[in-house]
Amino acid sequence: MTHELTDVRLASPSSNATGRPAGWWRDAVIYQVYVRSFADGDGDGVGDLRGVRERLPHLARLGVDAVWLTPFYVSPQADGGYDVADYRAVDPLFGDLADAAGLVAAAHGLGLRVIVDVVPNHTSDRHPWFLAARAGRPGCPDRARYHFRPGRGADGALPPNDWESVFGGPAWTRLPDGEWYLHLFAPEQPDLNWAHPEVPEEFADILRFWLDLGVDGFRVDVAHGMVKPPGLPDVGAAEQATLIGSQPLPFFDQDGVHEIHRSWRRLLDSYGGERIGVAEAWAPTSERLARYVRPDELHQAFNFRFLNCPWDAARMREVIDESLAATTAVGAPTTWVLSNHDVVRHRTRYGSGPQGLCRARAAALLMLALPGSAYLYQGEELGLPEVTDLPDALRQDPAFRRGGGRGAAGGGRTDAPSEAAGQEGLRDGCRVPIPWDGARAPYGFGSAGAWLPQPAGWAGLTVAAQTGDPHSTLELYRAALELRRVLPGLGAGDGVEWLPAPAGVLAFARPGFVCTVNTLGRPVELPVPGRPVLSSGPVGPEGPMVQIPADSCTWWAI
Ligand code: BGC
Repeated sequence: MTHELTDVRLASPSSNATGRPAGWWRDAVIYQVYVRSFADGDGDGVGDLRGVRERLPHLARLGVDAVWLTPFYVSPQADGGYDVADYRAVDPLFGDLADAAGLVAAAHGLGLRVIVDVVPNHTSDRHPWFLAARAGRPGCPDRARYHFRPGRGADGALPPNDWESVFGGPAWTRLPDGEWYLHLFAPEQPDLNWAHPEVPEEFADILRFWLDLGVDGFRVDVAHGMVKPPGLPDVGAAEQATLIGSQPLPFFDQDGVHEIHRSWRRLLDSYGGERIGVAEAWAPTSERLARYVRPDELHQAFNFRFLNCPWDAARMREVIDESLAATTAVGAPTTWVLSNHDVVRHRTRYGSGPQGLCRARAAALLMLALPGSAYLYQGEELGLPEVTDLPDALRQDPAFRRGGGRGAAGGGRTDAPSEAAGQEGLRDGCRVPIPWDGARAPYGFGSAGAWLPQPAGWAGLTVAAQTGDPHSTLELYRAALELRRVLPGLGAGDGVEWLPAPAGVLAFARPGFVCTVNTLGRPVELPVPGRPVLSSGPVGPEGPMVQIPADSCTWWAI
């Protein structure tokens, strides 16, 4: 048995074993679409909204609950659209507003919710507010919407403080008139001053604009960054990007951000249909992260600790326990995520070649067995590896340029094993366009080429090639998501019961269900925990004991 379904009892997908209030987002599986790399509908080599719409049936068949679309707003694309020049318009590269409305309606027609990105920490340097600020003089009102300061040193030639950009280099850029402005990311992404009353007003209006268009929620970019402490105190340490997520930093996770999230929650709740906010937040501890999902704040926060965890049973158990405890304490669901557009794909992080793939498949089943909501990144359902040999000249990630061709220290914050070494912080390799069908590039991505070259060997990884192959990663994901809807012990709830297991093996029970994960590079024998319903690798013949293959995860019905 590799991953065929066996008969399982039917249960309502929204059934909630804990009796806690249902909310679709509490156990939703949400699929991240990196728009420029998903599907190209107009033949210019860049993915777009029309392409996404045409490929929605793939997502419906996969069995996810919602789609998160990365920014498609008007932008000079200095940071893949995370530099927004007009928050209420679609960049012509991706289509127009009618395409956005059509996509949302089509997704809803297929039973999929749609979450869009909102980027409130910074604008593009081509945003009308920043153009006015740049054209103004030191001290003018237009500069008050951003963080402008005089420099330090006798002639103001030194940056106002020691803050470093997440992408490398100083977080300050000097204008010809001598003033400096703050950008925690690229210089093309000036940080907004949220203490200026027009900033929160403008963003409330932007949220309403998209909610009125029908979106089901927002992924809030840099949700931990909007508030800066008075006086902008120095950090007093170098390599600051490496400290993100583990140390308190003056430019991130300030208490004041929670007031913003509270006001956004009120706004979301004023709309019907359970619209949600998801924090992309980096905080030094799980407890600090859980503050973003208190009952009157956002609904979910990405759990990057799980993503950063190496393939090690003891470490994974620790992260799972800590994550569940922190979110349960505030009544929120935990989220689980293995990959996104900022990190080395987990198949490559876990090791190159077949071992990386075995572990990636097992990790996916583990993630989907845990209580809470799970995020999938496009292409992981195909088992795509990181593309590690992109020519430098084709790389577009600003972190690559600012990191001196090495990427940003904090850009791909992963505890990566040596197989992925050298790729951390290089974010183009996980953004290579998706292979849909055909024997050669662009593998059905569009009629022209693809904005980043796809490897020659991807023919066997296309959606078409994997469909119907019971051993394929795509069919494993499809089977897992189908089971997640029908097995009552999966999805909802907030706890796991750990079962005795040998070192290197995880075993936990949920109502009617057991999950076992063998993280060792060799098979192990276990007492049969139940009836196997899905496994990422071939489980041995059952007796009183059963052999579990190396680097695998198995789901058991009990
Ligand atoms: C996004 C990145 C982006 C950065 C700046 C991150 O959280 O995921 O892709 O470069 O924010 O907006």
